[in-house]
Amino acid sequence: MSKRGLLICIEGLDKSGKTTQSKLLVENLRGMGFEAFYTSEPSDSEIGRFIERYVLRRDRRLPVSAEALLFAADRIVHVEREIRPLLDKGKIVVSDRYIYSSLAYQGAGGLDLKWIMEINRMVPKPDLAIYLDVPVEVIMERIQKGRKRSVMESFEVQVRVREIYLELVREGFLLLIDGNRPIAEVSRELQRIVLERLGLKPTKRDATY
Ligand code: TYD
Repeated sequence: MSKRGLLICIEGLDKSGKTTQSKLLVENLRGMGFEAFYTSEPSDSEIGRFIERYVLRRDRRLPVSAEALLFAADRIVHVEREIRPLLDKGKIVVSDRYIYSSLAYQGAGGLDLKWIMEINRMVPKPDLAIYLDVPVEVIMERIQKGRKRSVMESFEVQVRVREIYLELVREGFLLLIDGNRPIAEVSRELQRIVLERLGLKPTKRDATY
């Protein structure tokens, strides 16, 4: 029988700090003696690269059902190639975006959430799903300062995406962490929640916890 690892996913709006926080979480878990790995979606599979080019870096959105099917296909490949082999070896995987990004972003495009869940049925549910909450006004300031990365980065889309994330929090699918605070503070809370919720006991003392 294979040892099952743990799958944690970190969700949030564009530029909410989830990449920074996911990477810090992996670093901190490693510092405590756990074998943790960072990964992200869209993945770097052929489908993920197709998404970057033909879905995200475009002026107009594809039909939203086509978007959802592409993200779901990328996720299946991501799980089979990267996530499942690590989980089978008993490792901790931290995924920067997962199923809930499809629910929030493609749901914001008008799709039925049940159908999005249905086409994502083939991949494992995460053991813990975190939503880093940052107000849309703060997100829009960061987007305007940086370079445009995705067709999703408009005010209207971000407002609707946040509404769905908050709905998923209310329904108990996601656990909310206030992401509108200094990086170190958010990171400490994230680490505390992960250890607590997953019942992890550090084997090394090299932690800020
Ligand atoms: P990401 O690479 O996380 O952007 P950033 O690092 O700038 O936050 O995500 C790219 C975009 O892909 C983002 O706008 C959200 C979108 N996306 C979906 O619409 N559906 C999905 O299922 C996923 C995984 C991402």
